[in-house]
Amino acid sequence: MCGIVAYVGKKNAQSLLLEGLKRLEYRGYDSSGICIGDKHGLHVRRAVGRISILEASLEASGQHLPPGHIGMAHTRWATHGAPTEINAHPHVDDHNTIALVHNGIIENYATLKQLLIEKGHKFASQTDTEVLAVLIAHFYKGHEDDGLAKAVQAALHEARGTYGIAVMSAHDPETLVVARRGSPLIIGVGNGEYVVASDAAAIVEHTTQVVYLNDNEMAVIKPASFKTMTIDDVPVTPEIKEVEFKLEQMELGKYDHFMLKEIFEQPISIENCLRGRIDLHEGRVVLGGLANYARDLVRARRIIITGCGTAWHAGLVGEYLMEDLAKIPTEVEYASEFRYRNPIVEDGTIVIAISQSGETADTLAALREAKDRGALSLGIINTVGSTIARETDAGVYLHVGPEIGVASTKAFSGQLVVESLLALFIARRKYMSQNVLNEFLTALTKVPEKLKTVLEQSEHIKTIAAQYVDRENWLFLGRGYNYPVALEGALKLKEISYIHAEGLPAAEMKHGPIALISAGMPVVFIAPKGSQYEKILGNIQEVKARGGKIIAVASEGDEHIHTVADHVIHVPEIIEPLQPLLTVVPLQLLAYHAAVARGCNVDKPRNLAKSVTVE
Ligand code: G6P
Repeated sequence: MCGIVAYVGKKNAQSLLLEGLKRLEYRGYDSSGICIGDKHGLHVRRAVGRISILEASLEASGQHLPPGHIGMAHTRWATHGAPTEINAHPHVDDHNTIALVHNGIIENYATLKQLLIEKGHKFASQTDTEVLAVLIAHFYKGHEDDGLAKAVQAALHEARGTYGIAVMSAHDPETLVVARRGSPLIIGVGNGEYVVASDAAAIVEHTTQVVYLNDNEMAVIKPASFKTMTIDDVPVTPEIKEVEFKLEQMELGKYDHFMLKEIFEQPISIENCLRGRIDLHEGRVVLGGLANYARDLVRARRIIITGCGTAWHAGLVGEYLMEDLAKIPTEVEYASEFRYRNPIVEDGTIVIAISQSGETADTLAALREAKDRGALSLGIINTVGSTIARETDAGVYLHVGPEIGVASTKAFSGQLVVESLLALFIARRKYMSQNVLNEFLTALTKVPEKLKTVLEQSEHIKTIAAQYVDRENWLFLGRGYNYPVALEGALKLKEISYIHAEGLPAAEMKHGPIALISAGMPVVFIAPKGSQYEKILGNIQEVKARGGKIIAVASEGDEHIHTVADHVIHVPEIIEPLQPLLTVVPLQLLAYHAAVARGCNVDKPRNLAKSVTVE
């Protein structure tokens, strides 16, 4: 949700910023812009559409920006105002002195704008961000030392809402000021250079030494120094950390799309997620991050899992796992609902926030709400050092590597693995026998191998997808542990192919949605062998009788399913609570191939952003 990158150093800022923006493009991609500072002042260029369009406009003859060693850039996911050039960042004030890029939402922008108009200021855009640029210019006192920092502080005291910002002044083009509240901002500290970005992805090429700014903190960065402080001007000693990140994780390699790469990475990403966490010899789950909280977990009276989108679906699997294995009453809550509905958080409640990015605004707010009400908070997060990871009392990282494709795939399977481990960690301490635990642990270690046989069917799944890509309505049905998988399968298809799809508990279909079924409608059943297999066969017959086309995800060796389904995708057998780890993968591939066949931009679907840092 909007990406910021800024640079102060000795290199050519423009090319470095454009490369950085491309690494952040997954955060938003409806427009972009850049600002370069030199001794003559600030030079801004903006463009609608992908970063390649901005790049082309910068390369067009006669339109080059002057070279400079300081600058900032932005890729936008529109909140206020359509994705036009005028609304793109950087925004400048009405006297062209202050330029600013912003990630977040200034909630009281309308009031501030009115006040500034009354003071004679003029506005060009419909954005909340421009108000901040004008406000900073309004407070700016010119050349005095730290004049820009003081003006930023004064403006931020008036602003309500969330922001990660970078600001430059035409009067002081050697200084970059950055600040955050609610939106991530990381300062990379290199050798005589600084790279600031919303995400480490844009930094690691230059340095792995980073400072994570906390909420209400800011930094003043000059070519030879930087200092950090709160927005109330209290000095903060920066804590420099090493970020672990391999650049090849950000490259496509032999794949056409990041989504496909990430689907195919799952045997490895799950292995990485499991690494060091299963001790088969001793027969135990090792979760170092939770070692000090084992007692709280065992004695927990209630678990609330919260997240958004795919993370919420993982949370629903988590609810089943916690109740089934750990025997703790559990609910999964949409973060956006939980935070506003005055929830009851009693003694002994543990809240688990699930998030790939660790920056989702709603999830963060729900977490804070639960903490305020006294819950112990745990995180199941992929991005190391992210805000949610830092604000939870403890947690377990996914370790599946950076996920670039906007549609989440390997993070989802990583979330399922961690939830399974957590449920087993608790269950064994409560009642689960060593034998049963061992059975689960052995099954988990076999998941990566079993997944390979699912991935081998990619071409088969492609031919199935090809037959139905012209249908605008699909259903995904599952029962028990595979009901959340049905939801996730439908979401994947919607997100990247723009086909309308619904996921439902298979038995619910007859209470309404069955009316939708007409001849030729594709209906995907997640129907592996298990406790509800016979029941789901009945549901398949109900759809078949009404002319629906059946695509079944079924267990290896299930020959009977071929007599009722039009298409079958086999997955290896596995202990029932772990089935989603295998059954979701054919649905990821189905969505992928359908989207490619429809000519959609798989990695950057319309209207979506990978990391939603606004409400
Ligand atoms: C966005 C993405 C989804 C993702 C959700 C939660 O909506 O498009 O793919 O599942 O945010 O993201 P998180 O980073 O919190 O897991």
